Amino acid sequence: MYKFAVLVLAVLVKDTIASCQCYETSNYTGKSAAISNAYETADFSSCAKNCSYTAYSGDDTYGWTGLTFQWGTTTNSGGLVEIFDGATNDSSALLIQIQEGENVLSGSAKSLIKSSSPRITIRYTQAAGAANVYYGVIKAVPGLQPSAAPITTTAAPTTRTFSNPNFKHDPYLITHDAFILINQKTSGGVSALNNVGDKSLNAIAINFVSLLAVTTDASSTSSTRLSLGTLTPYFPFYSLKGPIWEMSAGDVISSVPRSGVTIDGNIDTALSNLVDLAFTVNKNETADSRRNVQRSIILLTAEWPTAGATLSDDVRRNFSAKGVDLLVVGYNLSSSEQSQLLRSDLRWYNAINTMKTDQTGVASFVNPFYFNDGSSSNYWCPPFPIINSPDNKYVLFQEPYNYAGPFHPTETWKTHDPYFGQTARYCNFANNAHTYNLPAGFQGMTVQVFFELEAGKDFLNFYDASNNLITSFTGYEISASTFYTETPTLRAQFISDNQSVFRGFYVTITPVPPTTPTTPKTV
Ligand SMILES: *[C@@H]1O[C@H](CO)[C@@H](O)[C@H](O)[C@H]1NC(C)=O
Ligand SMILES: *[C@@H]1O[C@H](CO)[C@@H](O)[C@H](O)[C@H]1NC(C)=O
Ligand SMILES: *[C@@H]1O[C@H](CO)[C@@H](O)[C@H](O)[C@H]1NC(C)=O
Ligand SMILES: *[C@@H]1O[C@H](CO)[C@@H](O)[C@H](O)[C@H]1NC(C)=O
Ligand SMILES: *[C@@H]1O[C@H](CO)[C@@H](O)[C@H](O)[C@H]1NC(C)=O
Ligand SMILES: *[C@@H]1O[C@H](CO)[C@@H](O)[C@H](O)[C@H]1NC(C)=O
Ligand SMILES: *[C@@H]1O[C@H](CO)[C@@H](O)[C@H](O)[C@H]1NC(C)=O
Repeated sequence: MYKFAVLVLAVLVKDTIASCQCYETSNYTGKSAAISNAYETADFSSCAKNCSYTAYSGDDTYGWTGLTFQWGTTTNSGGLVEIFDGATNDSSALLIQIQEGENVLSGSAKSLIKSSSPRITIRYTQAAGAANVYYGVIKAVPGLQPSAAPITTTAAPTTRTFSNPNFKHDPYLITHDAFILINQKTSGGVSALNNVGDKSLNAIAINFVSLLAVTTDASSTSSTRLSLGTLTPYFPFYSLKGPIWEMSAGDVISSVPRSGVTIDGNIDTALSNLVDLAFTVNKNETADSRRNVQRSIILLTAEWPTAGATLSDDVRRNFSAKGVDLLVVGYNLSSSEQSQLLRSDLRWYNAINTMKTDQTGVASFVNPFYFNDGSSSNYWCPPFPIINSPDNKYVLFQEPYNYAGPFHPTETWKTHDPYFGQTARYCNFANNAHTYNLPAGFQGMTVQVFFELEAGKDFLNFYDASNNLITSFTGYEISASTFYTETPTLRAQFISDNQSVFRGFYVTITPVPPTTPTTPKTV
């Protein structure tokens, strides 16, 4: 009789017109916000539905933190919980991301993240398919986290129409701190420096800066900041042509050198001293070189000394210490000068020789080195192929090539970042793919990802063999994210935009053998 009653009830439930409802159906005000799966109104069973709501602490001085989160059951359907800072679902405001299967314990790194706004938006998405069960809570406490990134006050260069076939992108999008350095010593004499019209070394500098969006705002992450100097024959072998990082394109154009010199200077000493001066203007970081943008010194030269300019490892270290990249643009160099400058051994800087001073000459260094178009190898961001781990148990790849973040889940990103500038950071305009084929005899692969990417702007995407997106990483992950896939071919694609550069990613892929059938328990 009892059994029969249960059966009748079950049938009744099935017949009721059920509908799938989000756990929070509207916005919420209070000090403790719940996160849980959608359910069938008829029987509270879990159902697959994307849900989103905004939680307000009810007090503008209270922020959100102390997340704890558990998955009850998972179905490998790409479930993803995202918490955004503010009443927004804009990816740039992403605060915490929880992949399907990842639990967040009290006191863990993700649990400790705090919002900078009294409002957060909690969103759950999954592919249509079997439902997941999950539950968690996040609390409002006094105090707000100061925004991590300074607010950009310069309008981003977004809605410009640009059609110049010389360039892969609009040079307006370049966001470097760029120090232009013109060598006043020229084997072609004054005429090579300052000939009529377009035919001069100065013209390259003028045609380059004319294309840029220039800012003097030390907190901006868009636009370029400019400085100009020249190489001279006497210690310290350079001279400044205007205040560092406060020159406009017009200031640079009116300050290019009007005379050449015939005495050799010392390029190595000049560069080592200049990088030290220019990229540490003072210790006040609001006026110093900007933190998350690329930095470059561009040396324009119409000669290369037969002795004295080696760009040796000492110079490399001086640049690395300040997170600065070096570009040497030679103009009309002889073949022996070129062979010294463009040498292939131990080269750590980008260099080209051009015979053109117009926009095509400018494009010959902007496209490969600022836009990463692959037309010349970019020593600032050399590729890092997939390699085997030392014990051959997994493969790995990373970006940048000198990635310096965590390698194991026991390590974390260091809170103090010694890598301001370019050192151990990826480049803008990256678009790099890595493909891994699952070896025979394995059923799937576990992929572990450490990443620090510009949130909502730079992405590490993983695709399966049919080119479907498996998962996408952006922003900052304090501990590793892992996922499992049975795709025979995994493709990872890293894409960065024109703005901030961060410390990149480190990925390990471990092939997983087929699970051995479980032996039935003997009673
Ligand atoms: C929830 O809050 C968001 C952001 O403040 C608002 O756009 C939306 O209309 C609100 N929804 C409801 C149902 O009140
Ligand atoms: C983001 O929020 C807007 C406004 O609340 C809403 O219309 C949109 O559907 C949301 N997008 C996603 C992907 O949740
Ligand atoms: C959730 O939204 C994504 C697009 O953002 C869509 O592909 C997916 O089918 C949706 N899932 C459900 C269960 O509706
Ligand atoms: C450049 O590097 C060398 C060797 O690392 C060091 O001795 C020198 O002091 C550095 N120069 C400057 C200006 O920092
Ligand atoms: C740093 O420079 C900014 C802008 O020049 C100034 O407002 C601020 O007071 C300076 N800070 C210190 C500690 O000197
Ligand atoms: C290049 O340099 C040579 C001398 O080395 C000179 O004769 C020639 O005119 C220069 N060409 C240009 C385009 O400046
Ligand atoms: C450059 O940065 C701005 C601001 O983030 C963005 O809107 C724009 O799409 C970016 N352009 C490119 C080509 O990455």
